[in-house]
This record gives sequence, C-alpha cells and structure tokens, in this order.
Amino acid sequence: MIYCKKTRLFTLHRLIFFLFNPERGKGLLLRFSYVIIGGKILEVLNITPVKLDDEGNKLILLDQTLLPNDEKYIHLKDKESIWEAIYKLRVRGAPAIGIAAAMGLYVCIKQSKAADYDELYNEFKEIKDYLATSRPTAVNLFWALDRMENCLLQNKHRPIDEIKAALHREAQLIKDEDEDICRQIGEHSLSLLRPGMGILTHCNAGTIATSKYGTALAPIYLGHERGYNFKVFADETRPLLQGGRLTAWELQKAGIDITLICDNMASIVMKKGWIDAIVVGCDRVAANGDAANKIGTSGVAIIAKHYGIPFYVHAPISTIDINTETGKDIKIEERPGEEIYKAWYAKPMAPEGINTFNPAFDVTDANLITAIITEKGILYPPYTESIKRIFK
Ligand code: MRU
Repeated sequence: MIYCKKTRLFTLHRLIFFLFNPERGKGLLLRFSYVIIGGKILEVLNITPVKLDDEGNKLILLDQTLLPNDEKYIHLKDKESIWEAIYKLRVRGAPAIGIAAAMGLYVCIKQSKAADYDELYNEFKEIKDYLATSRPTAVNLFWALDRMENCLLQNKHRPIDEIKAALHREAQLIKDEDEDICRQIGEHSLSLLRPGMGILTHCNAGTIATSKYGTALAPIYLGHERGYNFKVFADETRPLLQGGRLTAWELQKAGIDITLICDNMASIVMKKGWIDAIVVGCDRVAANGDAANKIGTSGVAIIAKHYGIPFYVHAPISTIDINTETGKDIKIEERPGEEIYKAWYAKPMAPEGINTFNPAFDVTDANLITAIITEKGILYPPYTESIKRIFK
C-alpha cells in the first residue's frame, strides 16, 4: 500500500515535471491541446455538404436553409429538385454550387435511356442548360457544367456506359480537387495573418460552402489548429443570414472564438481597433480584379479602406473569370423582395406590397482589395497583370 502510494506520487511528480519543464513540457502541452482542438475541428470538417450516394444514383445535400436548427440531408435525383435546391440556397457558396451542379448533372444523365451518343448529348445539353439557369452570379456553376461537357465530348467515341462512368469520375474529381484547393488557399492566406488577430468575415465562405475547409474560413481553421487564437467577427449578412445561421454555426462548432454582429455594426468594430484583417470569399472575379461577393461585401471593403485594414478576397482559380472584363459585366442575381421582410419572421416586417430591391451580390472594386488569395498563390495589384500571369 505504502509502496503503491509512493509510485503514484512519483508518477504525479514526473507528470508535473513534464508539463512545466520549459523544454519538454511545452511540447507536451502543445501536443495535448492540439489533439483536443484537432478533435473539435475534425467534427466540423467531417461534414460533407455535397456528395453522391454510394451507387451514384442520388445527390445528397446538407439542407443549409434549415441550419442552424436542423442538420438534415436531402436526397435528390431529378433535375427539377436539383435546380430548386440550388435556387433556394439549400446548397450555396460558389464552389459547393459548382460541385452540386456537376454531381446533379451526372445523376440525371445516368438515368438516360439514350441508345447512341447524339441522343445522350441532346439530353445532357438540355439538363446542363436548365441547371445553368438556377443562379447567375457564381461562375463556378458554369465552370463545373462546362467541365462536365468537356468530359462528355472527350469520351464521345466510347460506349454509353463508359461515358457515364467518365462523367461520374469527373464530378467526383471536381469535388476532391476543391478540397485540396481550399487547403492551399488556407495556407497562403494564413501566411498573411498573425496569432491573436481580430478577423471580420462576411457571409459564409466556410466548409459548407465548399467541399472542405472553405475559402475565407480555411485560414481560420488552419490557424486554430496551430494555436493562433483568432478572434473572429461574423457579419450576420442580411437578408438570408449566411453569417448568423452558417458561419456562426460552423465556427462555434469548431470551438473558435466567434462573435456575431449585425451588418451595420461592421464599422464600429473596425473603429474600436478590434479588426486586423477582413477575409471574404467570392463568387466571380473579373479580369481586372473586381470581385462579386455576397451583398454588403463592398460596403465592408469601403469601411476597411477608411480604417486602413487589409481586405483579402479568397478565390479558387475557377472563380476567376477572365472572359468578364470588369465588375460591370458581372450579372448580379436579384431575388424576391419577400426575402427581406418575410423569410425569417413569423409576421411580415414591412407593410404588404412594399417596393423592394434585393440584389444578392455586389461588386467590390479592385482598388479596395489588398490581395486575392488563390490556390496558386497570392495576387496583388495591379490585378489585370497578376491575373493574366496566373492563367499563363
Ligand atoms: O448566396 P450565397 O450564399 O451562395 O453566397 C455565397 C457567397 O457570397 C460566398 O461568399 C461565396 O460564394 C464564396 S463561398 C466559398
């Protein structure tokens, strides 16, 4: 008994020595917290917002309109419900929309009874063109659908079954590549940030807007894994509340220090000196660096410029549209006005019949953007040149 107590005492003594020894203990404590934090993060990053079922018969989406209250997955197999899911923002965020469209197109064409290539092509085109009408601004939608069409064309001399198998692989590849791309964006972005920074974000460019990691939230996840202790502020993002319902939800789930503010509070937190950097995602970057993102983003950029705070846009190369010359050429989606005053309320928050204007995106002028962070590296002004270089 006495011997036992002594052993325990000795073990306790060694443990204390290990934890507080500056040389060995620090590493142990760091590794210990890394495991705990890593465990929490993995839970969030394990969420798959868009995927195919095992047989490739259905598109499975996390229904983001139900968050943060319900985590429910919907299974879709016809083009109308896939179109509706994209239009209604059940799946949203530029990369996730692209992945959903590619996988949805595959699910639909897999059911085709076409006997020859021409028949298959006509059916494919009809579904593709239809899905392309679901949302106009995020270029990833068109990019992913075009990539599927290129795959179809490249395999035209093969039997129908093999063409379908190639389309299956292509859709999956678009998703898998996005995961790597987002991680690389996160690494580049993190190189611009320092531990302890206050960071403001707008809308949701997180893990559920992509295949994994997110774009603008990727550096926050990677930094958190490495003990950066960021203090993150999320704009609520009216009218569809992607900041409040989605960003706040996923960052809180990851154990990140997150504070929710209304959109009109962005300037006060900047004035107070609480914000060291702004990180946002993006739906389309024009060839001159103008960037369309969720409505309200350009206002944040203007305030950031006033206070001298760096404003970073995160964009996979697939979000850069060199065929769109400037922001003026980006088609901005307009959505039903009811989203402003009815969508989230038990009773209308404005008189019935009120005139509304509900653009879903705005364009941040290139001269307000400190850097555009892509998987291939960080682009700086003048963007016309740095964007051209990256496409060479
Ligand atoms: O209307 P949404 O929710 O699809 O808008 C999303 C955004 O504006 C995101 O910031 C953008 O798509 C980047 S997602 C990585």
